[in-house]
Amino acid sequence: MEQSQLVNLVEQMTLEEKIGQLTQITGDFYSDKAEERTGPMSQLGLNDDQIMNVGTVLGVVGASECKRIQKNYMEHNRLHIPTLFMGDVIHGYETIFPIPLGLASSWDTEAFRRMAEVSAEEASVSGLSVVFSPMVDLVRDPRWGRVMESTGEDPYLNGRLASAMVKGYQGEPGDLSTQFNKVAACVKHFAAYGAATGGRDYNTVDMSEQRLRDVYLRGYEAAIEAGARLVMTSFNSIGGVPATGNLHLMQDILRSEFGFDGVLISDFGAVKELIAHGVAEDETQAADLSIHAGVDIEMMTLCYMHTLVGLISSGTVSESIVDESVLRILELKNELGLFEHPFRGADEDREKTVVFSAEHREIARRTAAESIVMLRNDDSLLPLDAERSIAVLGPGAQSPDVLGAWSWRGRTDAAVTLLQGLQELAADGEDEGRRPSVVTTQERCDYFVPTKSVVSESIELAKQSDVVVLALGELSTMSGEASSRSNIRLPKGQVELFEAIHEVNPHIVVVLFNGRPLDLHDIDGAEAILEAWYPGTEGGAAIADVLFGAVNPSAKITMSFPESVGQIPIYYDEDNTGRPYEVAPNEKYVSKYLDVSNYAAFPFGFGLSFSHFTYDSLVSSSNSFSATEPVTVSVNVTNDSNVDGTEIVQLYIRDLVGEVVRPVKQLKGFKRVALAAGESRRIEFSLTEEDVRYVHLDCTMRSDPGDFLVSVGGNSRDLLDPLHLHLD
Ligand code: GLC
Repeated sequence: MEQSQLVNLVEQMTLEEKIGQLTQITGDFYSDKAEERTGPMSQLGLNDDQIMNVGTVLGVVGASECKRIQKNYMEHNRLHIPTLFMGDVIHGYETIFPIPLGLASSWDTEAFRRMAEVSAEEASVSGLSVVFSPMVDLVRDPRWGRVMESTGEDPYLNGRLASAMVKGYQGEPGDLSTQFNKVAACVKHFAAYGAATGGRDYNTVDMSEQRLRDVYLRGYEAAIEAGARLVMTSFNSIGGVPATGNLHLMQDILRSEFGFDGVLISDFGAVKELIAHGVAEDETQAADLSIHAGVDIEMMTLCYMHTLVGLISSGTVSESIVDESVLRILELKNELGLFEHPFRGADEDREKTVVFSAEHREIARRTAAESIVMLRNDDSLLPLDAERSIAVLGPGAQSPDVLGAWSWRGRTDAAVTLLQGLQELAADGEDEGRRPSVVTTQERCDYFVPTKSVVSESIELAKQSDVVVLALGELSTMSGEASSRSNIRLPKGQVELFEAIHEVNPHIVVVLFNGRPLDLHDIDGAEAILEAWYPGTEGGAAIADVLFGAVNPSAKITMSFPESVGQIPIYYDEDNTGRPYEVAPNEKYVSKYLDVSNYAAFPFGFGLSFSHFTYDSLVSSSNSFSATEPVTVSVNVTNDSNVDGTEIVQLYIRDLVGEVVRPVKQLKGFKRVALAAGESRRIEFSLTEEDVRYVHLDCTMRSDPGDFLVSVGGNSRDLLDPLHLHLD
């Protein structure tokens, strides 16, 4: 449809029809079973006519159901405007990939793009046209439950991965209109939702505008620059004003500065929550604040439907503002091709072959193996050789809870457990002699209070086995939305199980299933630790691949693992302060704790490999760089082991003097480098003036001439002595 036709369509609409487009409700209002509709309808007070004017639908899946609803909707909608199906596809649709915090550990932008591409293929054939992803909330507090959805603590990496996801979902500009295996991306939650005070979900966010822009907004901006067609508001307040009604955040920054011209949708109920926040007396004021902030779609509350007619007739809200929002929604529907193809990609036959295909599951398995971080491997316990007898124990050993808290359409019934993964790999062993024996307990182990029988059987099996693979961690319900924790240690029952097993067999590999960085001191005695996160549908197979060395682990954490919850927020790119500990570690009056170090137990960028990589001869093409002359920084990386592997080489800078305090180091480049056993290679990075720009007090993003330290290494802690470079 041409733009002029869309404008004309808006002109034909009644005010009630326009306001209907500004609302989103869940699919149960469209159920073909009256008994499923009446409850929600009476709860929200919606009648059938209103339902057939609501502009978009949340959370319906299945090609046939979406087509049935769309057909019925367009028959009843006076102007035959199509509805639009949206849903939470966060890290996979039915084929579930590792949680984003896990996938981020791969530092593989191509893996993120591929995950989004596969997700789009499965979601679109099932009837969805918009996914509520990527979530790019930067997080420096592992107590916050939704850290599992994030890419972790670094703004630069967050932006690169967000951009890759948008490209994977949407393809190239114009693809949404012609390639119905693509879906529109909705970047969320705008903004800074991950900086909740105390790590408590939905809690207050408060920081300087300089820090908000320089650190927390970069991921959203990158997603918008990559073309994300929707943005979702966040539940939290920022600087005292809830995001959903925050004129400055949404109009000045999002619309004007970032140039976002797509659809802004509220989070679930966030418009009406302005009342609970205490900035709106009632639904009328909540609608007034939100529509002026530019919120185009109100998700699952009816402040707009209940009050906008009155606000317009009283002159408080101009109908032109409503028209602008309606036009943006119709433009999105038009860009998705829905006017000409209201069913778009929905296809019952293709759904049977595309969704959860073997190809997609193989991609998920490879991606999961690339996301597993080896945090410890004392005495090279790993990889396990096939002659070993293995006891697979603990609550995660036989649990299908490997998909994570936001896996919506994921199928735990078809997920590969750790035990299955090991058994399948053992069965594939070359010959009888090389097949590891894999044993486990008769009954599954509880996450919190393993039964006495499980504990005693576990001890017996551990005694009889060469190695124990002990699967510990969190239930997936212990992270995700509304699942913050004040204590980030393993449950007490798991620690006791670990200790009981360690008594009889010290050769323990702990495999962690968790949605956040944890305080791991309770398992200091483990010889090896694999951080598997929630690895997704093929999780058990991917872990087995790493345990037996079919895959050499290359992943590196993208969020600091604290020594103690008391250090939080802890992140690698901290400020130096006026009394840096490093300068005078034995002094009293320096920035430190009396009872714990300043440092992470496992720092940002850390991860081990079966290979061993060394770095030397860090050099630059010049001692200075400028806006017109980038500088090439290069380093020699050697795989001085006998195992081929992949290293994630990281480039960090430090701006020695700025208008505002600058971090002691910042990631400004990374490369995944495959090196054969014994191979050395010179790895180059180009450092530009743009790389060292930052937000100044006047909120402009620019660089300052001056001195920089530049270094390279395999994680944020172990870096070569820095180069001194000058920006002219
Ligand atoms: C939830 C989440 C948001 C999700 C939305 C729709 O509350 O905050 O991430 O996309 O509601 O399910």
